[in-house]
Amino acid sequence: MAYLIDGKRIAQEIKDELKDKVAALKAQGKSGTLVVIQVGSDPASSVYVRNKKAACAYIGIDSISHELPEDTTEEALLTLISELNQKPEVKGILVQLPIPKHMDENKVICAISPEKDVDGFSPKSVGALVIGQKGFVSCTPAGIIELLVRAKLPDFSIEGKHCVIVGRSNIVGKPMALLMLRENATVTIAHSKTKNLPALCTQADILIVAMGKPGFIGAEYVKEGAVVIDVGIHRKEDGKLCGDVRFREVEQKAFAITPVPGGVGPMTIAMLMKNCVESIEV
Ligand code: GUN
Repeated sequence: MAYLIDGKRIAQEIKDELKDKVAALKAQGKSGTLVVIQVGSDPASSVYVRNKKAACAYIGIDSISHELPEDTTEEALLTLISELNQKPEVKGILVQLPIPKHMDENKVICAISPEKDVDGFSPKSVGALVIGQKGFVSCTPAGIIELLVRAKLPDFSIEGKHCVIVGRSNIVGKPMALLMLRENATVTIAHSKTKNLPALCTQADILIVAMGKPGFIGAEYVKEGAVVIDVGIHRKEDGKLCGDVRFREVEQKAFAITPVPGGVGPMTIAMLMKNCVESIEV
C-alpha cells in the first residue's frame, strides 16, 4: 500500500509557521491586506474565496472581498484593480478564476501590479520563474513541490526523476514543469493531443495529473513505485469529492499518492498565504 501524502497536515504546518511570522512582522510594524475579487456566484469559487479569507484570519492577515455581480463590465473590474494597485495597505490582489466570458482573462490578470500578484499569474511573475529570478509562483504547483519535500518520503528526492505532467494550463501544468526543472527533474508535459498517454505516463517516476477529468487515471497509467499527485477536484452526484485519479486502484501500485480531498487542495491556500506574507515582508 502506498504512502498517503497528507496535504491537510502539511498545509496546517505551513500556516502555523506563517502565523508566527505574521506576528513577528506585526511587532515590526509591518502588516497588509489581501483583496480577493470574485465576479459572479460560481459555487465552487465561493467556497475557495471563503477558504482563502478563513486562512487569512487564521494566520493574522487582514482580508477584504469584493463580490461583484456576473454582469460587471470589464472596465469596472479594471478600474477597481487600478484603485487597489494604488493603495499602499493592499499588499495582495487576487481575482478568483474563472471570470465571466465577456471579460478578457489575460487583460484582467495583466492589470494586477506584479508586486501584488500573489497568485503568480502575471507575465512578469511567470517570466521570472522561467529565467530563475525571484517572483511570486503560482500556488498549486508551488504547493506540490512543498508537499513532495515536506512529506519526507523515505529515500525519495525529486532530482533526476522523470516527471510527467498531464495538463498544460497556465495555472498548473506550465509552472509545474518549470518548478520541476528547477528541482532538477527531467520533465515531460502531456496534454489532450498527446498520443498513447498510458505508455507515456507509465514512464513517470512522478506523475502529476491536472486534467480536470474525474477518475480518468487508473492503474494502467501508473508505473509500479511511482509517486502520484492528483490535482483534480470534482463533486460527484452523491456530493462526495473525487480527483482525476482512481485512488483505490492506483494506491495499490504507487509508492506514494495524494488523496482528494486533503491532498493538493489545502496546499494551494497555504502557498497563497506564503505569497501574501512575502508581499508584506518586503
Ligand atoms: N481558480 C482555480 N484556481 C485558482 C487559483 O489558484 N487562483 C485564482 N485566482 N483562481 C483560481
